Amino acid sequence: MLELRDVYGGYGKITILNGVSFKIPAGSITTVIGPNGAGKSTVFKAIFGLLQIQSGQILLEGKDVTRQTPRQMIAHGVTYVPQGRNVVPQLSVYHNLELGGITAPDQAKVRQRIEAVMDQFPMLREFRNRKAIELSGGQQKQLEVARSLLLDPKLVLIDEPSIGLSPNIVQEVFHTLICLRDNGVTILMVEQNAKAALAMSDYGLVLELGQARLHDEAKKLLVDTRVGQLFLGGHVHENAAVNAH
Ligand SMILES: Nc1ncnc2c1ncn2[C@@H]1O[C@H](COP(=O)(O)OP(=O)(O)O)[C@@H](O)[C@H]1O
Ligand SMILES: [Mg+2]
Repeated sequence: MLELRDVYGGYGKITILNGVSFKIPAGSITTVIGPNGAGKSTVFKAIFGLLQIQSGQILLEGKDVTRQTPRQMIAHGVTYVPQGRNVVPQLSVYHNLELGGITAPDQAKVRQRIEAVMDQFPMLREFRNRKAIELSGGQQKQLEVARSLLLDPKLVLIDEPSIGLSPNIVQEVFHTLICLRDNGVTILMVEQNAKAALAMSDYGLVLELGQARLHDEAKKLLVDTRVGQLFLGGHVHENAAVNAH
């Protein structure tokens, strides 16, 4: 569905991606894990057309989409939920959803999609007139995921959705992603919360120093001692903080 072939890229003269190659199948969830600064977010920017790609290729359903603009990537059916909080705090939930469809030529269709998305996320319908800032962190993330669905994507890139959320809310957000996958959407996600994320994923990918190092079924990575030492055991102070909430 998505394939990166030996992608090099970075910021200005600095190369961050040092030949990233991997393939993900349609209708799957893949979680990317790796240390801070490994280039995980940078890979997403490369796919979505936000990065200067020095060499290599990005293929979407066999079609070369290397160096396309974000707008073109959206037209190809790819949406991107960046790291951090990305709702417009003072706008209502409904207006935030509308923003997700702002580039669409057919606004009547966008309004239909908003209704469909609110069916999928009843909480958003209930709070449609509230300001986004009045939602909890998990609800805001759900709003961002919902907003990314307004253009009916085939592939959703989600960067660290669980940051700052308590474990049960993390599970709710993950459950949303599983439902999307079950509806045929392909999901590529970055997560620090490696254990919980791999547990709900089909595949896992370890990125280190701008290269894809290990790529396997998630259940195999969960019992892989190399992954365990680095990401599931000692190093995971961030996870400990999340779990302590
Ligand atoms: N806009 C930017 N300009 C210059 N360097 C950046 C920029 N964004 C990230 N970097 C650098 O790229 C490297 C990889 O960052 P990133 O992809 O955000 O890592 P990760 O998401 O794996 O933690 C880091 O060394 C970071 O400092
Ligand atoms: Mg990152």
